[in-house]
Amino acid sequence: MIINTELENKGNLFPSKIIDFKKDVDKLYFTADNDVILELTVVRDSLLRFRYTTVGNFKNDFSYAITKYASIGYNKLEIEEKENTYEIITSKLRCEISKSDMKISIYDAIDDVLISQDERGFHWEESYEHGGNVVKMSKVSRDGESYYGLGDKPNHLNLKGKRYSNWVSDSYAFGKDTDPIYKAIPFYTGLHQGKAYGVFFDNTFESSFDFAHERRNVTSFWAQGGEMNYYFFYGPKMNDVVESYTDLTGKPHHLPPLWALGFHQCKWSYYPESKVKEITSTFRKLQIPCDAIYLDIDYMEGFRCFTWNKSYFPDPKRMVKELLDDGFKTVAIIDPGIKIDKTYSVFQEALENDYFCKRADGDYMKGKVWPGECYFPDFTNPEVRDWWSGLFQELIEDIGIKGVWNDMNEPAVMEVPNKTFPDDVRHDYDGNPCSHRKAHNIYGMQMARATYQGLKRYSFPKRPFVITRSAYSGTQRYTSTWTGDNVATWEHLWIANIQAQRMAMSGFSFAGSDIGGFAGQPQGELFARWVQLGTFHPFFRVHSSGDHGDQEPWAFDEDVTNIVRKFIEIRYQLLPYLYTAFWNYVDHGTPLLKSLVLYDQDDVQTHYRTDEFIFGEQILACPILEPNAKGRRMYLPKGKWYDYWTDTVVKGGREMWVDADIDSMPIYVKAGAIIPKYPIQQYVGEKEITEITLDVYYKKGKESSELYSDANDGFDYTKGRYSLRNFSLSGKSKQLIINQHKEGKFDATFQKFNIQFHGLPFEISEIYLDNEKMEIEPFDSEKGQSIRICKNFSQLHIKGKEVIK
Ligand code: NOJ
Repeated sequence: MIINTELENKGNLFPSKIIDFKKDVDKLYFTADNDVILELTVVRDSLLRFRYTTVGNFKNDFSYAITKYASIGYNKLEIEEKENTYEIITSKLRCEISKSDMKISIYDAIDDVLISQDERGFHWEESYEHGGNVVKMSKVSRDGESYYGLGDKPNHLNLKGKRYSNWVSDSYAFGKDTDPIYKAIPFYTGLHQGKAYGVFFDNTFESSFDFAHERRNVTSFWAQGGEMNYYFFYGPKMNDVVESYTDLTGKPHHLPPLWALGFHQCKWSYYPESKVKEITSTFRKLQIPCDAIYLDIDYMEGFRCFTWNKSYFPDPKRMVKELLDDGFKTVAIIDPGIKIDKTYSVFQEALENDYFCKRADGDYMKGKVWPGECYFPDFTNPEVRDWWSGLFQELIEDIGIKGVWNDMNEPAVMEVPNKTFPDDVRHDYDGNPCSHRKAHNIYGMQMARATYQGLKRYSFPKRPFVITRSAYSGTQRYTSTWTGDNVATWEHLWIANIQAQRMAMSGFSFAGSDIGGFAGQPQGELFARWVQLGTFHPFFRVHSSGDHGDQEPWAFDEDVTNIVRKFIEIRYQLLPYLYTAFWNYVDHGTPLLKSLVLYDQDDVQTHYRTDEFIFGEQILACPILEPNAKGRRMYLPKGKWYDYWTDTVVKGGREMWVDADIDSMPIYVKAGAIIPKYPIQQYVGEKEITEITLDVYYKKGKESSELYSDANDGFDYTKGRYSLRNFSLSGKSKQLIINQHKEGKFDATFQKFNIQFHGLPFEISEIYLDNEKMEIEPFDSEKGQSIRICKNFSQLHIKGKEVIK
């Protein structure tokens, strides 16, 4: 790996003065007298793209990251030529380009506060070895500026003072300081004086980011080839920056099937069939909810993708059906390495059609993975992706597999020093032929995309479910992801928490870790604490290498089993809440997890917090990350919060001790929230849902909440068959009003809401539904007063008698 520094300036070259300016619709071209051209695109009022060439013209503009569905268009664009600068003004930004050196300064258009400023700005070094340039950008880093993002980096959330690189890598048993690991997401958010902006460096070559590490007042990024091509997003809210980046690189194409948000059990490997059945039936026997069971590489015949080992799995179709009848969806692994075997049809087809990657001089790219020597499809060729997607027909349509797990797609190659393809391997890159230097970071993404296409084709009318290990920006459109081969240690529990939050603030929310740790074996306590955290991660899967012992919920002791069950049950109760948050993610790009800084950037206390996060919009979770803990100190963001377990109301904006013995963890609910809950099911669809519980957390004041529902699978929701209920709560000392506004054509199976009031400061005396007084008797539930009402009310108004002491 080449980690030269941004400063290594033996041969740094710089743009000279601007001699020409042209405008072409939304694109502005600034030409310097040494052939440097800056192409500035006004994508939206708060989103600018900067692209530079050093040779007087641009190569074909092609990106795997940017979605064709990105919103574009601005309300205002004024360009002014001044004595020393050009000024581009939108309704959100004012951008100055210095005539003498092409340096950029960006200001908030409303209050004229400086948001970002080039230090050296664009510069480059010519690369004799590869041709082209090492392209570099440096910007001023100000005191108190913080940085977040960059995908799966396993270290502190705030990136300030650190340097990272992006080169997707198979990283077995990675540690806190390992860099890079599996993902390449060259996007960060900067935050200074309450204003957040984002930078997405859309360059797939190996890239590096330095956040005031090399020089205290400079943040820089550079890549080993390609163009200096970056997008600048302005918030000023961090949430808007993340949503805007997610809009540009793509929101998930659709919702996952609801079962995919349930609990998943995995191990390398469950085989033969009797073992798989033993696992699934134990879940049912012990009444631990579970929706998915995984098959790792041993289900295949000699690790050949799309084949079955018939002595382990004599009749996969029957097995998969029997599992499904018991509520288990079977997910199977598929790797990119195709065994060199002339009798193997997948190999033959790819060979005949010239679908395998080749070296620069025309030989095949040959490398060892699980099956031994393999060739590798070039997923950057659309014809290859199409062929690959067709290979899933039997697995999905005939056998009934419900999800596919793409592994080793960095691509990982064994027994070679760089653990992947050599640089000279050629790729089609969708008609822009290039070397592996450029295609490496997107290879896994394109594999996952081809898999997704296959599943979409053959799962229809159901929704596809894909998981990938490697990813570049934009992969969130097609798949979910896990964080790779972690270790069963307390430090890795900390890392798992960071990674899920960081992925969410990098546009990729559907992520989770191998719960319990992949390598090694956890003690029961660590396993229980990890399941507690995983309950609040969008992708909720236990996985382990199996080399060191079992990791099923019953593999420890009965206490652990009971704790794990209790938390998985909480997850199943919260499914409608999580599904609603997922809908917001798919619809607006809203991250499913919000680190405290994302939740309240104005509170500087949040800028360096790492452990606490918001799950969805209104639930605050904080894992216990140490052995033998009876609780922990944690920070509660400003506002009022209900303790999930006791309903005690606490005032946030402070750090406090929270009790949380092994069977508990700190969970808080925002005052005013209305949390929808399902009854506990052993798997999604086990029960017909006739009633949804609404946990109403009283607040003096206003708060709004949502409930999204649809058929939980299929695509009818895209044609309007969904329902979105908006609840606005307004509380006073002796009354509470909930207005419901409903949109969408879907009539959910549930007919009633069981409304459970938390923290109501009065005893209910009168109930009005849509202005009519009702003779409903409130009943006492576990935590307070409850009423049961028909789901389609517009207004619920309750009045109180006397204040409860
Ligand atoms: C590496 C993956 O990261 C792991 O999850 C999987 O179990 C093994 N490969 C075997 O397929």
